[in-house]
Amino acid sequence: MSSDGKKVKSLSDLPGVGQSILNKLIEAGYSSLEAVAVASPQDLSVAAGIPLTTAQRIIKEAREALDIRFKTALEVKKERINTKKITTGSQALDGLLGGGIETRTMTELFGEFGSGKTQLCHQLSVNVQLPLEKGGLGGKAVYIDTEGTFRWERIEAMSKAIGLEPDSAMNNIYYMRAINSDHQMAIVDDLQELISKDPAIKLVIVDSVTSHFRAEFPGRENLAVRQQKLNKHLHQLVRLAEMYDLAVIITNQVMARPDMFYGDPTVAVGGHTLYHVPGIRVQLKKSRGNKRIARIVDAPHLPEGEVVFAITEEGVRDAEE
Ligand code: GTP
Ligand code: MG
Repeated sequence: MSSDGKKVKSLSDLPGVGQSILNKLIEAGYSSLEAVAVASPQDLSVAAGIPLTTAQRIIKEAREALDIRFKTALEVKKERINTKKITTGSQALDGLLGGGIETRTMTELFGEFGSGKTQLCHQLSVNVQLPLEKGGLGGKAVYIDTEGTFRWERIEAMSKAIGLEPDSAMNNIYYMRAINSDHQMAIVDDLQELISKDPAIKLVIVDSVTSHFRAEFPGRENLAVRQQKLNKHLHQLVRLAEMYDLAVIITNQVMARPDMFYGDPTVAVGGHTLYHVPGIRVQLKKSRGNKRIARIVDAPHLPEGEVVFAITEEGVRDAEE
């Protein structure tokens, strides 16, 4: 967000960038606000064939648009305090998360099949709609489904259970099936536009974030490319969370390794990729019956430990003893 509060979403929105300069920038490989913001004026001027003063002005505008500037510690404090939380439906799980799923943050839910990642995503896309005093943000959700496991029936059941009118609850969830990794990335590219049009969007879900990438770039020989693409995708999601003060949830299936639960779970199969991206990582694990165990990984500001919750007909709840 720029200092006057107006949201600039791409290079073409910068006042100093007309069509002809835009073309030159893109041709020179500077196709995003970030790329321009971190460029040196000399490099940009030479590469794009524009005057040095123009390059300086565009870089300044891009930095302002991305809010790249010194902030005072007080501003940082205020931003942090403004962080809002979405209830999961389980007090125990909310407690573990320091109150719920945070805005301005990307939260990764990882765990084996059936551990509850998708159910939690459904629940949060309903709960975000609750008013503030009931643990929601009075907002809408975007659900990007890569595995075809979204069920409107679950949304209906979960919303009824918490007293929301099911049809309006479903109306407040934008759904898109991502057919491959390129499509998945393109959807996120376009999200800024949707969010600008509908600022009520307070939650973006990608379930699962990794499956297409794993399927399309299998094996060690493709690891570097996969990693590179996925990282770009993830950083884009993180930036979305920060820019629009919304919560991002991604899921990641990692195979069950009993010996790993208390060891380093980032070593779990396929689990490395998200390690270097900022955010909160929540490991989910199956327990007896409808019970599930959640544990936070690598979050120094949150208490250690694990909690038990349940997946019931009504949705995510505290487990009954
Ligand atoms: P993968 O996507 O396969 O990695 O698993 P996941 O972690 O997304 O698991 P998911 O959230 O789909 O959890 C599935 C579990 O939720 C099931 O094993 C059921 O126990 C429970 N569940 C799913 N749908 C329902 C439902 O309609 N009613 C109830 N009571 N439980 C459900
Ligand atoms: Mg799932």
